Amino acid sequence: MHPGDVAPHAYAPSDDAPGHLLTSGTSADVYAIDDERVLRRYREGRDAAPEVDLLRHVRSHDFPAPDVLRAGGPDIVMTRMHGPTLLQALAAGEFSLPDAAHVLADLHAMLHAVPAPQSWQVPRDRDWPQLGGGPVVVHLDLHPGNVVLTEQGPMLVDWANAATGTPELDVAVTAVLIAEVAVDAGGDYSQAARAVVAAFLHASDVSPLTALDDAVALRSGAPGLLPGERELVPQAGALVRTMLALTERR
Ligand SMILES: Nc1ncnc2c1ncn2[C@@H]1O[C@H](COP(=O)(O)OP(=O)(O)OP(=O)(O)O)[C@@H](O)[C@H]1O
Ligand SMILES: [Mg+2]
Repeated sequence: MHPGDVAPHAYAPSDDAPGHLLTSGTSADVYAIDDERVLRRYREGRDAAPEVDLLRHVRSHDFPAPDVLRAGGPDIVMTRMHGPTLLQALAAGEFSLPDAAHVLADLHAMLHAVPAPQSWQVPRDRDWPQLGGGPVVVHLDLHPGNVVLTEQGPMLVDWANAATGTPELDVAVTAVLIAEVAVDAGGDYSQAARAVVAAFLHASDVSPLTALDDAVALRSGAPGLLPGERELVPQAGALVRTMLALTERR
């Protein structure tokens, strides 16, 4: 860099070892800095600023999620949540399927009580998910692997897809995500996932029917899906549609 050049980000990730690697997800690595803090860092250098804005906004409305302590470029330093994910607790048999469905439905209801911030706009460089906006904050990846069960209660992490939108779309995306596991006939968790989708639809206070096609389109375009996984998405949508028809006939 030459004197007078403008730095690409106001914040440059430090070169110090950030701590020990807790997990490596599809797009980001999460490091434990210490007992209180983690660093989530996008591997491809994506700018975390839009999700940080939404995360700070939902925290200001007391939604259960980590506090952002520092952020810049691809990095977010946030409070460390202690506890298993809801997915780990389900796999260990420490949580019942209906209770898990209620946790997911409650998080949706709490989140959708948070109005969309006036100033927030879909980042121009974000090619997925593309959405038209809406009246509330939506997470669009609210599944058991993104819920950490802490002593203070369930907390929602992984705000990578967060946007403004409608409750129906967010609920539909969760239903389709879990239904993808249900329609994977050879999968270990197929039966359990089916039960969670049914209980989740029952526990949700909005019907996702009007947003189901959008949710299927959104999931079909998700980056990182293997071809076999992508094929499950329309089947998952069909399963949710069938379950909704059964629920609504009652
Ligand atoms: N604030 C936090 N405190 C403790 N653990 C966290 C925190 N944020 C994330 N994690 C852990 O790291 C995991 C991965 O984080 P996250 O889901 O944000 O990354 P990702 O790359 O989007 O992952 P994936 O692609 O698997 O969804 C979470 O499932 C959770 O176990
Ligand atoms: Mg995640």
